[in-house]
Amino acid sequence: MNQKETELIIPYHVGIIMDGNGRWAKKKGLPRYIGHTYGAQTFRNITRYISKQGVKVLTLYAFSTENWKRPPEEVNAIMKIFRQYLTDALTDFRDDDIKVRFIGDRSAFGKEMVKLIDETEDVAKDRQGMLLNIAMNYGSRDEILRAVKLICQNVKDGKINIEEITDKEIQSGLYTANIPDPDLIIRTGGEHRLSNFLLYQSAYAEFYSSETLWPDFKPEDFDKAILEFNRRNRRFGGV
Ligand code: IPE
Ligand code: IPE
Ligand code: MG
Repeated sequence: MNQKETELIIPYHVGIIMDGNGRWAKKKGLPRYIGHTYGAQTFRNITRYISKQGVKVLTLYAFSTENWKRPPEEVNAIMKIFRQYLTDALTDFRDDDIKVRFIGDRSAFGKEMVKLIDETEDVAKDRQGMLLNIAMNYGSRDEILRAVKLICQNVKDGKINIEEITDKEIQSGLYTANIPDPDLIIRTGGEHRLSNFLLYQSAYAEFYSSETLWPDFKPEDFDKAILEFNRRNRRFGGV
């Protein structure tokens, strides 16, 4: 960004719905999985760029609880790409001091994958830079259900009374506990929907839809989203 643009307000927490890999491949007459391979490259480059812009938390939607509905060949290809990327991420992002965490239901992944996820988080745990949350097998309804069960258990165990349940209790049961709500949610690929991403947390997030398909998403596209974010008037219900 140029000098003038550096005076812009940079959102604290940005969420990105990385969409459009399949259409990108289709446009080129390639199988869908190639789109995911290129999408993974964008993930790497854009994460680095965003961390340099001063964003403190970046949450990337990589695989939803509904994405298992896809043909097994595609799901397998995505899992293979994840494994490769997790291996790379063990050392990746080190130079940018990026902390990595995974949000979503890990129980659906194999032992080896879970081990890799744990290792990736562990290697990066003392880093001081941007927090990168990778949402894998993540679904917001699933997350809220999990929080509700947690609260019910606490009530059952006599740790808390029903009257004491507040918004704070719900928030602390979410994967994003202790992380401020997203300020800006970007969706690439032109769709205007959240597709089960951060439903509770995005109550007052600004939504930005980019026509660019994820594998083509560049720093300039992110800059455009930031410019638009700066034009928005966030009222949070006030005047
Ligand atoms: C997003 O791209 C990646 C995942 C959901 C895993 P898509 O695969 O949804 O791409 P389109 O939307 O079909 O183009
Ligand atoms: C949302 O994209 C999930 C991710 C980007 C990981 P989808 O492609 O699955 O969403 P829909 O089906 O268009 O709503
Ligand atoms: Mg899609």
